[in-house]
Amino acid sequence: MAKADYIPALRFEFLTRFYDPLVRYSTREFAFKNALLKQANLNENLKILDLACGTGTLSITVKKKFPKIEITGYDVDDEILKIARRKARIAHAEIDFEQGFSDDLPFKNETFDRVFSTLFFHHLTLERKHRTLKEILRILKPHGEFHLADFALPRNKSQFVLSKWIRLIDGFETTHDNLRGRLLALMQENGFEKVERTGYFKTIIGTIRLFKALKK
Ligand SMILES: C[S@@+](CC[C@H](N)C(=O)[O-])C[C@H]1O[C@@H](n2cnc3c(N)ncnc32)[C@H](O)[C@@H]1O
Repeated sequence: MAKADYIPALRFEFLTRFYDPLVRYSTREFAFKNALLKQANLNENLKILDLACGTGTLSITVKKKFPKIEITGYDVDDEILKIARRKARIAHAEIDFEQGFSDDLPFKNETFDRVFSTLFFHHLTLERKHRTLKEILRILKPHGEFHLADFALPRNKSQFVLSKWIRLIDGFETTHDNLRGRLLALMQENGFEKVERTGYFKTIIGTIRLFKALKK
């Protein structure tokens, strides 16, 4: 994949190997990912996509809780997918990892019961956010659910100041709509139903908000 066309996990490829320890503490990773999984009411019979899975932490957590669940981790970056595959092997977690762009998914219509996306949308330009949301809707089954957690509207003034870190790291253009509080409206504009904010986590680099959205 052309590297110029996407922002790697920590913006610069050479930082990817430090992703897990940095994200664990700076984003309260386990707390917000477990909250997102809880709101998705998972069971063994579901087919799941972890979109822009990064190092695969969420996919592996799911697989440990539900060993028979069918889960695909998808990301554009082959370097981070190597880390994800290695972690999954060590955890004895059978996960199908695939590579590609989020706005051109290689899956048939109505394939998945749940799609998860964590710390990802702030990597996308507005145009790519729209295209990616359309793709998610296409590959979800009817009544399927989309669960998103990402940096979003800062909860208060100090969170607003701290969220400048995420602008600095991942760039003004892609973080702009997130931090203006536009994620919910974007999901509605692209055809999702019953879009709701389900929670928030204050972190040292800004507010992470959780959302749930349905396909009719
Ligand atoms: C900050 S990381 C989040 C990873 C993981 N979801 C997590 O919660 O730790 C963002 C990820 O998005 C991936 N990414 C960026 N642009 C992408 C695109 N257009 N399509 C698919 N993946 C993309 C990056 O490679 C990176 O792994």
